[in-house]
Amino acid sequence: MKAVVYRGPRDVAVETDLPEPAVEHARDAVVRVTRSAICGSDLHPYRGEIPGFAPGTILGHEFVGVVVDAGAEVPYPPGTRVVASDVIACGRCATCAKGWHYHCAHATLFGYSTVVGRAVAGGQSEYVRVPFADTVLYPCPDELDDERMLFVGDLLSTAWAAVEACAAPGATVGVVGAGALGQLAAMCAAAAGASRVVVADPDPARRAGVEALGFAAVEPALLASTLGEAQAVIEAVGSDAALACAVDSAGRRGTVVAVGAHSSAAMPLHTQRAFTRELTLRFVVGDPIRDRASVVALLRSGAVDPRAVVSDRLPLADADAGYRDFDRRRSLKVLLIP
Ligand SMILES: NC(=O)c1ccc[n+]([C@@H]2O[C@H](COP(=O)([O-])OP(=O)(O)OC[C@H]3O[C@@H](n4cnc5c(N)ncnc54)[C@H](O)[C@@H]3O)[C@@H](O)[C@H]2O)c1
Ligand SMILES: [Zn+2]
Ligand SMILES: [Zn+2]
Repeated sequence: MKAVVYRGPRDVAVETDLPEPAVEHARDAVVRVTRSAICGSDLHPYRGEIPGFAPGTILGHEFVGVVVDAGAEVPYPPGTRVVASDVIACGRCATCAKGWHYHCAHATLFGYSTVVGRAVAGGQSEYVRVPFADTVLYPCPDELDDERMLFVGDLLSTAWAAVEACAAPGATVGVVGAGALGQLAAMCAAAAGASRVVVADPDPARRAGVEALGFAAVEPALLASTLGEAQAVIEAVGSDAALACAVDSAGRRGTVVAVGAHSSAAMPLHTQRAFTRELTLRFVVGDPIRDRASVVALLRSGAVDPRAVVSDRLPLADADAGYRDFDRRRSLKVLLIP
């Protein structure tokens, strides 16, 4: 079996002689992957930002495919087209019942070593074993193709959750970061009825991409003055500088949602500004298990089409080049086709 294997910082390789996964438990399914993607979160181990990320990890937490084998407790027979949630959770505990899947005692991410929970091989692969498949998988409606459904498993559900956490209809919304996540957040904010959306990114090519989608784009230093009084600012980068920009750009009683992946132990926060403006600061992790039905409805409505952010479609065998170009921001969103 072919899959993308992490070997160390800036070193991923497509290995071709890996063993095919099998059903090991009544709640497991094995999925033949038809499309997977490289997420901005995959750049963190790729860039060596996650010490201890295990060499040998099969990467990837965004994928869609077809069930080829399923345990007795999985309601999806072979042949069912499915999307997987990037977050794996048991779906049966009190924490899952509250809708807090990322905080389930069994929670982990596909293809992310032991960063969140136990290691589970990822989806940048020909086949993947899905634990708790009755909870983690979701059947794809016939009218939505693989490329749209792929985004339900992470990025679009995450963008949706960020917007749900802060933006009311009629709001002025700022977005810090014009990667695929920031661009999808802008699209979701518009779909949710924002009156104005402005996106900030230091990269002129990324800003041009935002403008092509019909949104205003500025350098980060100009976001606050361009927005005026923003009710909501979504930070979709995952750095102290980006979060500081978001806090700086929120208006009176505004909400800042940090949806970029953060890892600082401490950062300077302009508390005077936060206090005098009575800001709310929230951190949000996407939860496709909780939000996928709403996100599928959004896709069905046609209000958001995530294929707009796809820049590259590569054979799985060329994943190495995909990572390289994504790391250098030559690619916005890379899909891998096994
Ligand atoms: N919370 C979640 O559940 C979740 C889910 C998916 C991704 N993420 C995280 O979201 C972040 C973005 O993901 P992506 O796929 O869009 O990644 P990406 O790397 O493609 O995009 C990041 C963008 O931020 C821009 N940027 C860098 N510094 C900036 C600054 N100071 N101000 C404004 N923009 C700046 C870059 O130019 C780039 O366009 C990553 O940290 C990723 O780990 C979080
Ligand atoms: Zn991700
Ligand atoms: Zn649980």
